[in-house]
Amino acid sequence: GANTMWGGRFDGGPDAIMQAINASIGFDRRLAAQDIAGSRAHAAMLADTGILTVADADAIQKGLLTVLSEIEAGNFNFRVDLEDIHMNVESRLKEIIGEPAGRLHTGRSRNDQVAVDFRLWVRDQCDAAITGLEALMRAFLSQAEQGADWVMPGFTHLQTAQPVTWGHHMMAYVEMFARDRSRFIDARKRMNECPLGAAALAGTSFPIDRHATAAALGFDRPTANSLDSVSDRDFALEFLGAASITAMHLSRFAEELVIWSSAQFRFVRLSDKWTTGSSIMPQKKNPDAAELLRSKLGRILGATVALFTVMKGLALTYSKDMQEDKEQTFDAADNLMLGLAAMTGMVGDMTAMRDTLKTAAASGFSTATDLADWLVRELNMPFRDAHHVTGTLVAMAEKAGIDLPDLTLAQMQSVHAAIRADVFDVLGVENSVRSRMSYGGTAPEQVRAQIQRWKDAL
Ligand code: ARG
Repeated sequence: GANTMWGGRFDGGPDAIMQAINASIGFDRRLAAQDIAGSRAHAAMLADTGILTVADADAIQKGLLTVLSEIEAGNFNFRVDLEDIHMNVESRLKEIIGEPAGRLHTGRSRNDQVAVDFRLWVRDQCDAAITGLEALMRAFLSQAEQGADWVMPGFTHLQTAQPVTWGHHMMAYVEMFARDRSRFIDARKRMNECPLGAAALAGTSFPIDRHATAAALGFDRPTANSLDSVSDRDFALEFLGAASITAMHLSRFAEELVIWSSAQFRFVRLSDKWTTGSSIMPQKKNPDAAELLRSKLGRILGATVALFTVMKGLALTYSKDMQEDKEQTFDAADNLMLGLAAMTGMVGDMTAMRDTLKTAAASGFSTATDLADWLVRELNMPFRDAHHVTGTLVAMAEKAGIDLPDLTLAQMQSVHAAIRADVFDVLGVENSVRSRMSYGGTAPEQVRAQIQRWKDAL
């Protein structure tokens, strides 16, 4: 038969395949709580403005709470023939309270209804992401605190560059995740306007109070243009954009963990909680969580691209294309939260191998820049010349199969006669990092200042 919600002008029902492609209840049931919150705010406003009688509004409120408890208890019968969460809730409301249920939709459309539901849902996800990022930042902060002055190699091109500290490396991620957090905070602020009351697209002739519903749902204000209200999905795109950047950051540290936990590096030991074994190779401890975290950006960025592609070129206002906004956003959000929780756990449980880090820091001519700087500072050599002299010394050491500090003073003087014995002071990695006192540099003193700044801020 024809649909009871909109079937007035229809003689027959939809084809089975039409129903399958049209229905969104399979996924938008996740908006049930938001849908009922939106309807309750709308009903209360309809009573306050005298559009509905208090008796009808009360019946609606009670009925909606019953529907909510049925859904929460898991004994709600979601029906595909009712298409989506909005019509499933309203139809059940009608079964429970009868005639007043049909008055709830006064001055409203599914177009503003879905817009407000989805916005409420995405807003919650911003809050969850902010909380998750704060927990992750704290995990990195305690790693940084513990090893603020532990030396390790800093890399460019994944080749040894200069010694840095473990704390400094951990704090680099605190900066990244702090920016991610601020992106969710910004997005949340921008999305916090209520589209409810835009109705189908043009607003409504009923004397509704959009400021009241906006306030009741925790929004800062109602949206200002009804056409924009029902056709905008920027808020989800911003969330997905922020989620993608976060997932990209997660993937970078995940890759470092994969490398660092290998037998060839042994910079960190991952705990048993975040690794798996092999059914054939008994020695294995695979960094599966890190590998999965490295890959999560694939689906999160995929969801972002998908929604951009859905929205691109859509003429105003609502088109059914926009029903495709939800499923992948749900998936992206789920995977982001899972990723943040997994990374927080893994970072909290990992052990930095202090001695291995130090040995690695001292190899690969990591203090060559310190030597060049010494030549500039002590011998007043132009940096370009100092670079050349140092390069010659590196080549000499490499040929002999030794590192820079292992060269004798005589060998050094054979390249440049004015070099003195105190040059060896700057070739030690501890001295090297201690000297990087510029603001934001790797000197433990600088690192500790940044740790303190973030501990105060969080
Ligand atoms: N299920 C729809 C969606 O997710 C709800 C809005 C439907 N509006 C409409 N006019 N068909 O977008």
